Amino acid sequence: MVKESKKAQRFYDDLIYGDKATLSKSEAMLKAFPFPTIEQLPSLQVLEVGLGRGEWALGVATYAHRYTGLDYSEKTIEYVRQELASHTLHEKVSLEHGTVLALSFEGNTYDAAYCIGVLHATPDAMQGFRELLRVLKPGGTLNIMLYGQVQPRNIIRDTLFYISRLGRWAEELILKLVLKIEMWHLPDACLFNADGNIVLYKDWYFAPIQSHHTIRQISKWAQQEGAEVTYVFLDQYRNTLKRHQRWASGRILGRFFCPDFMASIRKQSATA
Ligand SMILES: C[S@@+](CC[C@H](N)C(=O)[O-])C[C@H]1O[C@@H](n2cnc3c(N)ncnc32)[C@H](O)[C@@H]1O
Repeated sequence: MVKESKKAQRFYDDLIYGDKATLSKSEAMLKAFPFPTIEQLPSLQVLEVGLGRGEWALGVATYAHRYTGLDYSEKTIEYVRQELASHTLHEKVSLEHGTVLALSFEGNTYDAAYCIGVLHATPDAMQGFRELLRVLKPGGTLNIMLYGQVQPRNIIRDTLFYISRLGRWAEELILKLVLKIEMWHLPDACLFNADGNIVLYKDWYFAPIQSHHTIRQISKWAQQEGAEVTYVFLDQYRNTLKRHQRWASGRILGRFFCPDFMASIRKQSATA
């Protein structure tokens, strides 16, 4: 049994929540994955683990036959509950507190699952990955986003992370510094809410747990579970690279300096 991190729970409880989820943004995000499409969602039972500000939740819950959301932070669940209720989606939605490392759901329950930016923040990403596949129906698809392994930001992030442990003053100083660097590096990224509060930086730089992964590793994990990676998506980084195209092709650099990647993993169907 993997020991959960109370520190991580507190961290996500305290995370600043920024922009409200909007359906148009949710829909655009859903298009990142080939399955399920928005047209397929109405016949599907979908699970999401790690809800954040409910940006995926809103889109999935709007279209899916049934939506189950689970998070390790009770404050996050409460936030998303209110968010979905304000869109009158509560009837087909169920929200639960728990960890991806030991899902309370029965095996072979869901047609599709999303776990975006979550597994790398847990003490055992592979265990969470296995759990998600376990609760999928045969032939079901798991969509994930994970931090990549080789990227300049990791080195900066790791250095800053250890300095930030010196105290609150160090964390605040570093945040200011990081913001300056990132504003220059990723001028388009949606990192602030309307009040100028930091939305995502705390997660990137100060999450108490952060592991880094490769697509090859995920393929191995999938194979071990009788599943296969059917789709990989690096566009988040390619998009930011567009402005640097004069010196690099997004495709080439994206391979080596991949801050994160998205992947779809298909569980073997019963007949396969
Ligand atoms: C960076 S946010 C990602 C949110 C959302 N998926 C998105 O892409 O906007 C990570 C979320 O995972 C949750 N989380 C962290 N560890 C978890 C765990 N072990 N089990 C379930 N949820 C967890 C956090 O509370 C937080 O809501």
